[in-house]
Amino acid sequence: MVNKNILLCVSGGIAVYKAVALTSKLSQAGFNVKVIMTESAMEFVTPLTFQAMSRNDVYTDTFDEKDSSKIAHIDLADWADLVLIAPATANVLGKLANGIADDMITTTLLATTAPVWAAPAMNVHMYSHPAVLKNIDVLHERGVQFVEPSEGFLACGYVGKGRLEEPEKITQIITEYFSKRKERLLEGKKVLITAGPTREKIDPVRFFTNHSSGKMGYAIAKKAAEAGAEVTLISGPVSLSSTPGVTTIKTETAEEMYQAVMKYFHDSDVVIKSAAVADYRPVQTNEQKMKKKDGSLILEFERTTDILKTLGEQKKHQILIGFAAETEQLETYALNKLKSKNADLIVGNNIMTEGAGFGTETNAVTFFRKDGTAAELPLQTKDQVAEALISEVHHLLQERLT
Ligand code: CTP
Repeated sequence: MVNKNILLCVSGGIAVYKAVALTSKLSQAGFNVKVIMTESAMEFVTPLTFQAMSRNDVYTDTFDEKDSSKIAHIDLADWADLVLIAPATANVLGKLANGIADDMITTTLLATTAPVWAAPAMNVHMYSHPAVLKNIDVLHERGVQFVEPSEGFLACGYVGKGRLEEPEKITQIITEYFSKRKERLLEGKKVLITAGPTREKIDPVRFFTNHSSGKMGYAIAKKAAEAGAEVTLISGPVSLSSTPGVTTIKTETAEEMYQAVMKYFHDSDVVIKSAAVADYRPVQTNEQKMKKKDGSLILEFERTTDILKTLGEQKKHQILIGFAAETEQLETYALNKLKSKNADLIVGNNIMTEGAGFGTETNAVTFFRKDGTAAELPLQTKDQVAEALISEVHHLLQERLT
C-alpha cells in the first residue's frame, strides 16, 4: 500500500485510544497517514500521540494554517486517497449527513472527492436510535462505506453493538479495498460489447442463424463491469439472463445489431465484437409461411453489413477488438482480419478444438496483436478468458497514453 494516502478523522469518543493503534497499524501496512482530530477527541488523547504514530503533523483547527501557501482543509481533502472516520461518533455522522461543516473534520469531509469510510463507535442505544440509523442510511446512499461496530462490553457499561472494530480488522478491510480497486482496470471507460448469434428471417417460422450461445460475450460484459467499466451489451437472441450493472440491448438481425452498435460506437472507448454475425441474409423474407413444393428449394442470400469492418473504417480513439472463430488456419485468418478490419486485437479460436467451440463453458483462445506478437491462452473457463481479455484491453489503453 505504498503511496496510498489515508486521512484519518478522529472524532471524540472513548474509542479514540483505539484510533492510536489504528494509526500505527495503517502505517505498518505501508499507508501514509495524516490525522485530523476534533476538539472532543483531544479530551481523550493528545495530538502528539497521533503525530508520533503517523510521523506527520496533526490537524485540529480549521484556522490554524500551518503553511501560508495552502488552505489546509482543501489541501488535505485533495491529498487523501481515502478518508477514514474512526471512531465516527453519532455527532460527526449527523453533521456529515446534513452537510454541516463547523470544524476541521467536517469542512474537510465536504471538500474531499476521495472515498469516505466510517467506523462508528458509540453506546448501543445511540447506535440504534432512529436519527443515527437514518443518518447512516443517507450517508450509505451517498457512497460512504461503513466498518460496522462489533458487539461486546462498551465503556459505558452496556453490552451490545457499538464497539469500534479492532484496528487490525479495519486495516485489513481498507487494504483489501485498495487491492480490489487495483483490479478495477477499466474504471471510467465505456465499453461496448456484442454477443450471441443473429437471426435472419426466412419466413414467420424459419430463420438462418448459427450455434453461438453468447456465453463468451456475456462473460466479457460481466468482467468488464466488475473492472469498473460502463458496459453496453448488444445481444443477439440468447437464452442467458442479463447481467446486473450491464445495459443490455436485445437485437435479432445483423442489421438491427449494426444499427444498435452505431448508436453507441462514437461514445465508446473500447468495442469488443464477440457476436457471431451472419454474413448473409435472405434477399426476400416471406410474409407467410413457405409451403413445401416438389423438388429442391433455392434461396437467394445477400451480404449483411460487416459491422467490425465499418467500425474499423470509422474509428478514432476507440480500441477495436474482433473475434475470429475458425475451423482451420487460425493464425492466417486471424491476422488477415486484424488488418482488413483495422482492429487493434483479434481473439482467435479454433472451434474444432475440444472445449473451445460454440456453447461450451470453456474456451481456448489466442490474442493476435498489431505488433505481430501472439499470446496463446490455455483452455480455461469463459470467465477466465474474459478476465485475460480485460487485462489485455487495459494494456492497450495504457499504450495509448504513452
Ligand atoms: N463481424 C461483423 N459483422 C459481420 C460479420 C462479422 O462485425 N457481418 C465481426 C464478428 O463480430 C467478429 C469478426 O467480424 O468479431 C469476425 O467474424 P467472422 O465471422 O469470424 O469473420 P468474417 O469477417 O465473417 O470473415 P470470414 O467469413 O472470412 O470468416
